[in-house]
Amino acid sequence: MKILLVNGPNLQLLGSREPEIYGRVTLPEIVCRLRRIAGELGVELVDRQSNHEGDLVDWIGAAPAEGFAGIVINPAAYTHTSVAVRDALAAAALPAVEVHMSNIHDREDFRSRSLTAPACVGVFCGFGAATYEWALRALAARLEHNAG
Ligand code: DQA
Repeated sequence: MKILLVNGPNLQLLGSREPEIYGRVTLPEIVCRLRRIAGELGVELVDRQSNHEGDLVDWIGAAPAEGFAGIVINPAAYTHTSVAVRDALAAAALPAVEVHMSNIHDREDFRSRSLTAPACVGVFCGFGAATYEWALRALAARLEHNAG
């Protein structure tokens, strides 16, 4: 079973970007850990990151045809602005779990609204790099349940 990990804008800067909010762990380090967990869970993880909204839309849109069973996504700033990413998630109709490293409800008001979350089966936020791990585990459990 294949899971697509999608990371949106500025997440390539993790490690040095506002470390008081996002910590010091880099995106390659997060992906490396997730791959290990994916291996333990018996799923394959394919990871992609882009600063461009259309890339996210293209990847999500192609995910069903590429054989992905589900999506873990941190849309980053597009969470709060992108009808296109939300529509892509709805159109793909794969179980998707939204991730935010920070607690988006404990920051500026504009961050507490997610346009993309209604197209996801659930949202994890606020646990730093570990948030991705909970999301991956939750999605894998959900997919296993669906399959069983
Ligand atoms: C983020 C939260 C967003 O509000 C922000 O624009 C990001 C990262 C997070 O992981 O906490 O880029 O998605």
